[in-house]
Amino acid sequence: MLRGKVKTLSDDGLGVLQAGNKTVYVPFAYPGDMVRVKSTRRRFGRLIARDFELLEPSPLRVLPRCRHFGRCGGCLWQGLKYRAQLELKAELFERITGIRAEIKGSPRVWDFRNVSNFIVTTNGAGLKEYGNPLGVANLSECPIFSKKTPEYLRALRDFLEETRLKPWSLKRKTGDVHYLQVREGKFTGEVMVNLIAHRRPSEETAEAFRDYFSFADSLYWSLKADEGDDPRGKPLHVAGSQLIRERIDEVVYLIHPNSFFQTNSHALELLLRAVEDFTDGERVLDLYSGVGTFGVWLARRSLTVEGVEINPFAVEMANKNAELNRVNARFRVGRAEETPMGDYDTVIVDPPRRGLKEAGELLVESGAERVVYVSCNPKAFKLDYENHLRKAYRVEEAVLVDMFPHTPHVEAVIKLERR
Ligand SMILES: C[S@@+](CC[C@H](N)C(=O)[O-])C[C@H]1O[C@@H](n2cnc3c(N)ncnc32)[C@H](O)[C@@H]1O
Repeated sequence: MLRGKVKTLSDDGLGVLQAGNKTVYVPFAYPGDMVRVKSTRRRFGRLIARDFELLEPSPLRVLPRCRHFGRCGGCLWQGLKYRAQLELKAELFERITGIRAEIKGSPRVWDFRNVSNFIVTTNGAGLKEYGNPLGVANLSECPIFSKKTPEYLRALRDFLEETRLKPWSLKRKTGDVHYLQVREGKFTGEVMVNLIAHRRPSEETAEAFRDYFSFADSLYWSLKADEGDDPRGKPLHVAGSQLIRERIDEVVYLIHPNSFFQTNSHALELLLRAVEDFTDGERVLDLYSGVGTFGVWLARRSLTVEGVEINPFAVEMANKNAELNRVNARFRVGRAEETPMGDYDTVIVDPPRRGLKEAGELLVESGAERVVYVSCNPKAFKLDYENHLRKAYRVEEAVLVDMFPHTPHVEAVIKLERR
């Protein structure tokens, strides 16, 4: 019988149940819960609970706010009190990296996400189900994204009904419409809607699109050429402004459908201030600079900032952001692994999930005094540090910022000083 008390969490935030000689990983269960696991499946060598009965709730539990919780893959920890979420994130980070760090909570834990990518399928429109690549939680709300989610999804459903465009079939990999992406400037109130579809709109369809989404300040139709479940396509501007703006304190950032922007506008200021606190000297390199989020913020302090980023489109946005905010920062297209690191006072690195890899060795050989490593993947940081960075740097200090409430993820800012 697979029953007992969940005592701990796995590195990816699942409840761990030790039942006899079996270890079962229980999604949506937390330390202190008494559970009975009803069925399991095997995945990547682990036994994962498909379904469980909660016999006795953990004192860390709270009632989840969203009616889709437990099925939707968006939130794993909405059933945990926020204070407990923060403590557990800091514990998981320490277990993985060996670094004990202070954690700063998100100033808002509802309506905080500035973007949502709703998959539009024959099984419904919303987010993928937890652990089921072919299942979709057909959403009517998403309290972590926006109070207006019901309005956005209603417009989508009415638009599909009128135009008879076919939603995507996850099984057959055919259909017309694949994603609805909505972005909100939380501090400007501006809204961007981007429909990701496999065919161009006819005149009539474009007219209906403008009509149903007339609340959007910026409207795009993106043409998707591949079958992958990601909201990327070639954006065609349909109506309104080309870009929307987000404002963090007094810095304004421009947002385009194809540019990455940090997803929690409310906690972003905390992240920027943490990076700023750890930055020293006058010459700063912002590596993996994206749209210049860190570089533009830091350049307000009259530092000289150079940024390097692989995506030409993001670089164009970063330079626009520097211009808009009238700061001394220049961004260029380049690969981190091929960037001369010179003798910068501080190098900020915010690599993709796989980490720095070869760029770590370049940093070791550079004359950079200090590295500020920003990461949402503590395992990648650990590998980069152990394989490369520790040869020349030691960890001086670290702070965690909760950019992702109700999930096990956290953003870490780690200050490394040359030995
Ligand atoms: C986690 S995002 C961070 C972006 C930015 N720092 C921000 O906060 O908005 C990582 C960025 O690294 C870029 N990137 C990925 N591989 C790269 C490489 N080899 N060299 C330079 N940039 C790269 C991606 O295009 C992406 O913009």
